[in-house]
Amino acid sequence: MSDKLFIFDTTLRDGEQSPGASMTRDEKVRIARALERMKVDIIEAGFPAASPGDFEGVQAVARAIKDSVVCGLARALDRDIDRAGEALKEARQARIHTFIATSPIHMQRKLRMTPEQVIEHAVRAVTRARKYTDDVEFSPEDAGRSDEDFLCRILAAVIEAGATTLNIPDTVGYSLPESFGATIRRLRERIPNADRAIFSVHCHNDLGLAVANSLSAVLNGARQVECTINGLGERAGNAALEEIVMAVRTRKDVFPCHIDIDTREIVACSKLVSNITGFPVQPNKAIVGANAFAHESGIHQDGVLKHRETYEIMRAEDVGWTANRMVLGKHSGRNAFKTRMQELGIEFASEAELNDAFQRFKDLADKKHEIFDEDLQALITEAGAEAEDERVKLVSLKVCAETGEMPSARVILKIENEEVIGTAQGGGVVDASLKAIESVVGTQAHLLLYSVNSITTGTDAQGEVTVRLEKGGRIVNGQGADTDIVIASAKAYINAVNKLLISRQRMHPQVAGDV
Ligand code: KIV
Ligand code: ZN
Repeated sequence: MSDKLFIFDTTLRDGEQSPGASMTRDEKVRIARALERMKVDIIEAGFPAASPGDFEGVQAVARAIKDSVVCGLARALDRDIDRAGEALKEARQARIHTFIATSPIHMQRKLRMTPEQVIEHAVRAVTRARKYTDDVEFSPEDAGRSDEDFLCRILAAVIEAGATTLNIPDTVGYSLPESFGATIRRLRERIPNADRAIFSVHCHNDLGLAVANSLSAVLNGARQVECTINGLGERAGNAALEEIVMAVRTRKDVFPCHIDIDTREIVACSKLVSNITGFPVQPNKAIVGANAFAHESGIHQDGVLKHRETYEIMRAEDVGWTANRMVLGKHSGRNAFKTRMQELGIEFASEAELNDAFQRFKDLADKKHEIFDEDLQALITEAGAEAEDERVKLVSLKVCAETGEMPSARVILKIENEEVIGTAQGGGVVDASLKAIESVVGTQAHLLLYSVNSITTGTDAQGEVTVRLEKGGRIVNGQGADTDIVIASAKAYINAVNKLLISRQRMHPQVAGDV
């Protein structure tokens, strides 16, 4: 029997730290359910001490998930540990993940603590976390730039205090594969009680080496990898779950461990995360990119047709790539709709919610004959976005474009029950529409990104638009989907504006808290 490699997904925590990727409670639960279907071992659901919203997100995931361990992050502070313990109270299997920085630069400049004080805090945090659960993980933040002797001391001390997983983060993505792997091996050899804990790694992708560093660590004895769907995460992101899983699975000849992931769920989960966060997946992204299994060159196509393995090392269907399947249509009834939604892991909290979603489905089916799973997912994301704190609503939009004329738009918005009209001209109808909306809402935010993506194929496909706005350092993403991309663009802009209008105070986990 080979060792088990535990897959720890942090899409809902580190992934959510990507600027603009914040998720609502219900969106977190939808992603967590998809991760559970994929048989992810541990789901890090968030940082409960960050804000009441983050606490509720972790609590909701803890209530919904039965088969995976649900984890909450906490700085090495009593109040963070208590918040995490409280948020995870109803989890069937709960883990508290506590951390403190150990590199000289972080200890001196950020924490302003001596190494002895850092050890003291780490031990105290682990001891306190053990009062809530037997499953406690400890991370020496910025381990990639920490002194190895100090790492040995602090890790031995936290094992003694009850830590069961030791996670070695390359917080700033500074490490290189060979030396990172060697560090893991030496830590395992040098720490006297190392056999009482599982070694884990958490690598950031600043140099594009997160997956390589994680795999090197696995070859040197790490038995948990922390990763995210589509490699989402702080700055350049984290190691991509789909790449780690498929590398270990495809190269069984090299990796002395097995994983329990149901790889056929990978593509659906990737699309769900992209749809909810508004972070598109680049076409040439390994495993989940649209071109990952497409053979453009004639020589390759010929080879694959004669014998698949000439150019394919994995089967597209093993990671969940199937031809778009028409699942529902204009004549599908409420029951068929509800059943398909359940198969996608979407539950309705009330009859009213189901009726609303079914009505949206019918409206879409009037415009588009074939409805695919991706259309259903977009429908729910949009309904969720509208349900939450929606101060500005789109009532109607009229655009005018004619060759030789300046495109123009007239929009009617409802703002707190009052209808307001805005008009504008622009370089195109999308530009004119967004300017017309802005003339009414007046956010003066900077548009950082505008992207359109076709959800399925065909000219009647829904266009999914992402708009990223920045104001006063705060970044939000808005999404909208419609068979008409001008309307989808207006919906996305309004969704982003609504998010900007909610003042949300939230703490970043990696800031130093008062001790
Ligand atoms: O990158 C990092 O160091 C982290 C820790 C909180 C584990 O995300
Ligand atoms: Zn991280």
